[in-house]
Amino acid sequence: MEFKHAPVLLSECLKLLAPERGGVFVDCTAGGAGHSSAIAALLPEDGRLISVDRDAEAVRTARERLSPFGGKCTVVHANYSDIGAVLDDMGIGEINGALWDLGVSSYQLDESSRGFSYVNDAPLDMRMDRSEGLTAADVVNGYPADELKRIIRDYGEERFAGPIASSIVKAREKSPIATTHELVSAIVAGMPAGARKSEAQHPAKRTFQAIRIEVNGELSGIEPSIRAAVERMAPGGVAAAISFHSLEDRIVKQTFADLCSGCVCPPEFPVCVCGRKPIAEPITKKPTVPSEDELRENPRSRSAKLRGVRKL
Ligand SMILES: C[S@@+](CC[C@H](N)C(=O)[O-])C[C@H]1O[C@@H](n2cnc3c(N)ncnc32)[C@H](O)[C@@H]1O
Repeated sequence: MEFKHAPVLLSECLKLLAPERGGVFVDCTAGGAGHSSAIAALLPEDGRLISVDRDAEAVRTARERLSPFGGKCTVVHANYSDIGAVLDDMGIGEINGALWDLGVSSYQLDESSRGFSYVNDAPLDMRMDRSEGLTAADVVNGYPADELKRIIRDYGEERFAGPIASSIVKAREKSPIATTHELVSAIVAGMPAGARKSEAQHPAKRTFQAIRIEVNGELSGIEPSIRAAVERMAPGGVAAAISFHSLEDRIVKQTFADLCSGCVCPPEFPVCVCGRKPIAEPITKKPTVPSEDELRENPRSRSAKLRGVRKL
């Protein structure tokens, strides 16, 4: 299957990152190299792009698609939470820009064998990095009911988390849940009949999102990765992040706000004793969202939000 993924908010990202300035840029989520290719095309000859992905298939695709740009692009199979170590290993000190396009790619969702999709029937996998141990089947069949409920409620923002978790436990007591469609049946069986019909989206969408986030530990790496990249940014360097759901966006927003805030002394202190200074400034007052045209062409961009900061 061809690796298809339309880069989201592409011109808006390029405007923030301005790779034509030159220097070293890091695409922390290479995917199908949509953003990476556009960055590489604008980078001057002596610029450098490091594109990272934890998914081996994305790495293969990005290498192929970035090969026309020659030595200025390097694709690395790694987790973006290890971005500091990746750059150290490459002998790179300062960087000038970094991008995170969070979540899954359309390819990962559409390639049925990866087990991310409730539409196609496939073994329950959902790992972005298939060399890692925990699969969706392990979570669904192995987690206690209250843990499942917490994940489905917190990561899926699913109001029927309790009944869905109970239904999954009931189903797995008969026999382990092995496929995406077996999981869909257990989820649907746990939802009140009215809710199944009234939902504008597929009734399993939120629970699938929740399990995917748990399998890949998607939320825990965002803040350390942004901090590590901004720390080694040269003054004027830009960090830009696209999020697709409220939990990701909250982490991006809070991490950026923290990097942009100075003194944390209590207001009653007459003078600052903490000495803390902001290390970045916001460059998107409100998050940038897709235009009407982009939404029409790529409905999957619907929930995207782009935020950015510039290193002081
Ligand atoms: C939305 S896609 C990126 C698409 C890409 N910007 C493009 O235009 O083709 C997100 C990508 O990030 C990767 N990814 C998610 N979490 C990651 C992590 N912690 N470390 C490295 N890559 C990650 C996924 O494997 C996926 O390929």
